[in-house]
Amino acid sequence: MEELELKTVIKVCQPQELSVEEQHLLDLAVEATRRSYAPYSRFCVGAAVRLENGAEVIGCNQENAAYPSGLCAERTALFAAGTQYPDVPVTVLAVAARGTDGELLDEPVSPCGSCRQVIVESETRAKHPIRILLYGRRCVYVVDGIRSLMPLMFSEF
Ligand code: THU
Repeated sequence: MEELELKTVIKVCQPQELSVEEQHLLDLAVEATRRSYAPYSRFCVGAAVRLENGAEVIGCNQENAAYPSGLCAERTALFAAGTQYPDVPVTVLAVAARGTDGELLDEPVSPCGSCRQVIVESETRAKHPIRILLYGRRCVYVVDGIRSLMPLMFSEF
């Protein structure tokens, strides 16, 4: 049987190796964790997106007593950006999280499957890849486009 091998390249760096704009976006994501409403999981996630026009939009997870009614930080930020700037491509997405001890995670946080699917749609809609910065205290993971986090993605039919 033939095998299909898929390659994912994730860059691992320190914030100082990124541009000033991207460092700022990481700061916004870290700050956004403070606005999280996560009384059930106590896992506070912050996200920040930068758009092609230079605008920055933040989001954080919003939970609900009826669990599925809540929303992740990434989708909160992307949907807010899509609302405020419907025709402007998102160019960068930064994500950070605090664990149940209130401390920023040591290892980079990684978006859930549903958020990845929404990132796919944002890229497809704008015909523009989204650079993704995943913050951890030890290092930052950087990928150039959701394809790296979502092999064999479903985008169009
Ligand atoms: N969460 C996010 O906001 N983003 C992620 O990438 C992973 C999970 C939220 C959903 C829920 O409010 C809490 O973190 C625990 O899963």
